[in-house]
Amino acid sequence: MKDTLLELSGVHAFYGAAHVLHGLSLRVAPGERVGLIGRNGVGKTTVINTILGLAQLRKGEIAIGGRALPRPRTYDAAQRGVAVVPQGRRIVANLSVEENLLLGAVGGRKGHWTVPAIYKLFPILKERAHTPGTALSGGQQQMLAVGRALMANPSLILLDEPTEGLAPVIVDQLADIFNAVAAQGTALLLIEQNMSLVVRVAERYLAMAKGAVIAEGPVANSRQCLADLEAHIVV
Ligand SMILES: Nc1ncnc2c1ncn2[C@@H]1O[C@H](COP(=O)(O)OP(=O)(O)O)[C@@H](O)[C@H]1O
Ligand SMILES: [Mg+2]
Repeated sequence: MKDTLLELSGVHAFYGAAHVLHGLSLRVAPGERVGLIGRNGVGKTTVINTILGLAQLRKGEIAIGGRALPRPRTYDAAQRGVAVVPQGRRIVANLSVEENLLLGAVGGRKGHWTVPAIYKLFPILKERAHTPGTALSGGQQQMLAVGRALMANPSLILLDEPTEGLAPVIVDQLADIFNAVAAQGTALLLIEQNMSLVVRVAERYLAMAKGAVIAEGPVANSRQCLADLEAHIVV
């Protein structure tokens, strides 16, 4: 579909013999902010891995910008305007902050986001530009991971548990950043276990269980919605 940035239809994905996604379908439209929630181990990260070709797509379809990816490769996503902020941040240890940012531009597109634009969004990264990326605090490393993804000038960013292990004050800062990035027109698929972040950032949610989407609906920044979302991730 033309007005869809990312579409997965009936996707079955595997790691070797392990069958992890069982007919998963989801869509993200341009500029949309979608929360993807679910307990540990349901396959949230595997959704990203399948788009990147790191888990094997054996049945179903993945399309980016209306074009099917029958055999996804890691570089396809960036070239087609989809950037990833991976779980655990994956900052490259022997590169500086600035070098990590420049890495994000490789294979990406030209646009608003340049090193100076990222430094304006995250002044702390400018101060620490020549520090090894892994010498930063957890929150600063997450900002670097977001900045690195923006450097590809994506239409859609896939964020995999970006607030995992971070202090509430940092989570608040990231919520503002995600909303600022979305306000620029970039779509977000936010994988999260922190439902208060989901209600602050997302406009729609998808809940996963056992490798498929089992519920979806609108998100409102309200106590009731927070409780509804939390009910989906109770262990
Ligand atoms: N590289 C891998 N090889 C084999 N199994 C994996 C691999 N990565 C994840 N899994 C399994 O796939 C399932 C889904 O994992 P994952 O997508 O990481 O879940 P989530 O991100 O929702 O916590 C889990 O049972 C996990 O053990
Ligand atoms: Mg995960």
